[in-house]
Amino acid sequence: MFMPERFFKDNGELDDDDRILAYGFGRRICVGKYVASSTMWMVIASILACFNIDKAQDDFGNDIEIDDRYLDVSPTCHKTPFKCSIVPRSDVWRSLIEEAMAEAKI
Ligand code: HEM
Repeated sequence: MFMPERFFKDNGELDDDDRILAYGFGRRICVGKYVASSTMWMVIASILACFNIDKAQDDFGNDIEIDDRYLDVSPTCHKTPFKCSIVPRSDVWRSLIEEAMAEAKI
Protein backbone atom coordinates (compact mmCIF):
# COMPACT_ATOMS: atom_id res chain seq x y z
CA MET A 1 0.00 0.00 0.00
CA PHE A 2 1.35 3.49 -0.84
CA MET A 3 1.57 4.87 2.69
CA PRO A 4 4.63 7.13 3.09
CA GLU A 5 3.43 8.24 6.52
CA ARG A 6 4.55 4.86 7.84
CA PHE A 7 8.08 6.35 7.81
CA PHE A 8 7.12 9.44 9.84
CA LYS A 9 7.26 9.97 13.56
CA ASP A 10 4.21 11.48 15.29
CA ASN A 11 5.73 14.97 14.84
CA GLY A 12 5.97 14.48 11.03
CA GLU A 13 9.75 14.02 10.87
CA LEU A 14 11.27 11.00 9.13
CA ASP A 15 11.95 8.18 11.56
CA ASP A 16 15.41 6.59 11.78
CA ASP A 17 14.29 3.22 10.48
CA ASP A 18 16.36 2.71 7.33
CA ARG A 19 16.34 -1.09 7.36
CA ILE A 20 15.77 -2.55 3.92
CA LEU A 21 15.11 -6.28 3.87
CA ALA A 22 16.49 -6.58 0.32
CA TYR A 23 20.02 -6.16 1.69
CA GLY A 24 19.80 -9.21 3.90
CA PHE A 25 20.51 -9.21 7.63
CA GLY A 26 22.92 -10.36 10.30
CA ARG A 27 26.59 -11.09 9.61
CA ARG A 28 26.09 -11.50 5.86
CA ILE A 29 24.25 -8.20 5.40
CA CYS A 30 25.16 -6.44 2.15
CA VAL A 31 28.32 -4.35 2.58
CA GLY A 32 27.39 -2.28 -0.47
CA LYS A 33 24.05 -1.15 0.91
CA TYR A 34 25.10 2.50 1.36
CA VAL A 35 26.50 2.68 -2.18
CA ALA A 36 23.39 0.95 -3.49
CA SER A 37 20.93 3.16 -1.56
CA SER A 38 22.77 6.38 -2.49
CA THR A 39 22.82 5.31 -6.14
CA MET A 40 19.10 4.48 -6.06
CA TRP A 41 18.43 7.87 -4.43
CA MET A 42 20.34 9.71 -7.17
CA VAL A 43 18.73 7.71 -9.97
CA ILE A 44 15.19 8.21 -8.64
CA ALA A 45 15.80 11.90 -7.84
CA SER A 46 17.24 12.46 -11.35
CA ILE A 47 14.26 10.76 -13.01
CA LEU A 48 11.79 12.81 -10.95
CA ALA A 49 13.74 16.03 -11.67
CA CYS A 50 13.80 15.39 -15.44
CA PHE A 51 10.42 13.87 -16.21
CA ASN A 52 6.73 14.36 -15.57
CA ILE A 53 5.33 10.90 -14.89
CA ASP A 54 1.60 10.58 -15.22
CA LYS A 55 -1.26 8.41 -16.33
CA ALA A 56 -1.49 7.91 -20.09
CA GLN A 57 -4.45 9.50 -21.87
CA ASP A 58 -6.79 8.04 -24.46
CA ASP A 59 -7.63 9.68 -27.81
CA PHE A 60 -10.19 11.93 -26.08
CA GLY A 61 -7.74 13.19 -23.46
CA ASN A 62 -9.17 11.09 -20.62
CA ASP A 63 -6.82 9.49 -18.12
CA ILE A 64 -6.39 5.75 -18.60
CA GLU A 65 -6.80 4.34 -15.11
CA ILE A 66 -4.25 1.88 -13.74
CA ASP A 67 -5.66 -1.27 -12.21
CA ASP A 68 -4.22 -2.50 -8.94
CA ARG A 69 -3.59 -6.10 -10.01
CA TYR A 70 -0.27 -7.91 -9.88
CA LEU A 71 0.86 -10.83 -12.05
CA ASP A 72 2.06 -12.84 -9.07
CA VAL A 73 2.20 -12.70 -5.31
CA SER A 74 5.77 -13.10 -4.14
CA PRO A 75 8.53 -10.96 -2.59
CA THR A 76 9.41 -9.88 -6.14
CA CYS A 77 5.86 -9.47 -7.43
CA HIS A 78 5.31 -7.83 -10.80
CA LYS A 79 2.63 -5.33 -11.75
CA THR A 80 0.30 -6.15 -14.64
CA PRO A 81 1.28 -4.08 -17.70
CA PHE A 82 -0.19 -0.57 -17.84
CA LYS A 83 0.20 2.50 -19.99
CA CYS A 84 1.76 5.63 -18.59
CA SER A 85 3.15 8.93 -19.79
CA ILE A 86 6.77 9.90 -19.18
CA VAL A 87 7.77 13.22 -20.75
CA PRO A 88 10.59 15.71 -20.10
CA ARG A 89 9.52 18.48 -17.75
CA SER A 90 10.44 21.19 -20.29
CA ASP A 91 12.50 21.84 -23.43
CA VAL A 92 15.46 22.71 -21.22
CA TRP A 93 15.21 19.30 -19.56
CA ARG A 94 14.71 17.63 -22.94
CA SER A 95 17.99 19.09 -24.24
CA LEU A 96 19.80 18.05 -21.05
CA ILE A 97 18.48 14.49 -21.36
CA GLU A 98 19.40 14.32 -25.07
CA GLU A 99 22.86 15.67 -24.27
CA ALA A 100 23.36 13.04 -21.55
CA MET A 101 22.11 10.29 -23.88
CA ALA A 102 24.48 11.40 -26.63
CA GLU A 103 27.37 11.43 -24.15
CA ALA A 104 26.47 7.92 -22.95
CA LYS A 105 25.96 6.83 -26.60
CA ILE A 106 22.43 5.56 -25.87
C1 HEM B 1 20.15 -2.72 -4.73
C2 HEM B 1 21.38 -3.22 -4.69
C3 HEM B 1 21.82 -4.36 -3.80
C4 HEM B 1 21.08 -5.33 -3.19
C5 HEM B 1 19.57 -5.53 -3.20
C6 HEM B 1 22.02 -6.19 -2.48
C7 HEM B 1 21.67 -7.29 -1.73
C8 HEM B 1 22.56 -8.09 -1.03
C9 HEM B 1 22.19 -9.20 -0.15
C10 HEM B 1 20.76 -9.66 0.12
C11 HEM B 1 23.33 -9.69 0.36
C12 HEM B 1 23.43 -10.81 1.41
C13 HEM B 1 23.57 -12.19 0.79
C14 HEM B 1 23.67 -13.24 1.88
O1 HEM B 1 22.93 -13.20 2.85
O2 HEM B 1 24.52 -14.10 1.72
C15 HEM B 1 24.43 -8.94 -0.19
C16 HEM B 1 25.76 -9.19 0.09
C17 HEM B 1 26.80 -8.47 -0.42
N1 HEM B 1 26.71 -7.34 -1.20
FE1 HEM B 1 25.02 -6.52 -1.90
N2 HEM B 1 23.30 -5.73 -2.69
C18 HEM B 1 23.23 -4.62 -3.48
C19 HEM B 1 24.27 -3.82 -3.91
C20 HEM B 1 25.59 -4.03 -3.60
C21 HEM B 1 26.69 -3.16 -4.01
C22 HEM B 1 26.51 -1.85 -4.82
C23 HEM B 1 27.83 -3.74 -3.55
C24 HEM B 1 29.25 -3.26 -3.68
C25 HEM B 1 29.58 -1.98 -3.86
C26 HEM B 1 27.46 -4.96 -2.84
C27 HEM B 1 28.34 -5.81 -2.24
C28 HEM B 1 27.99 -6.92 -1.49
C29 HEM B 1 28.96 -7.84 -0.88
C30 HEM B 1 30.49 -7.75 -0.95
C31 HEM B 1 28.20 -8.80 -0.19
C32 HEM B 1 28.75 -9.97 0.64
C33 HEM B 1 28.81 -9.57 2.12
C34 HEM B 1 29.32 -10.73 2.98
O3 HEM B 1 28.94 -11.87 2.74
O4 HEM B 1 30.08 -10.45 3.91
N3 HEM B 1 26.10 -5.09 -2.89
N4 HEM B 1 23.94 -7.97 -1.03
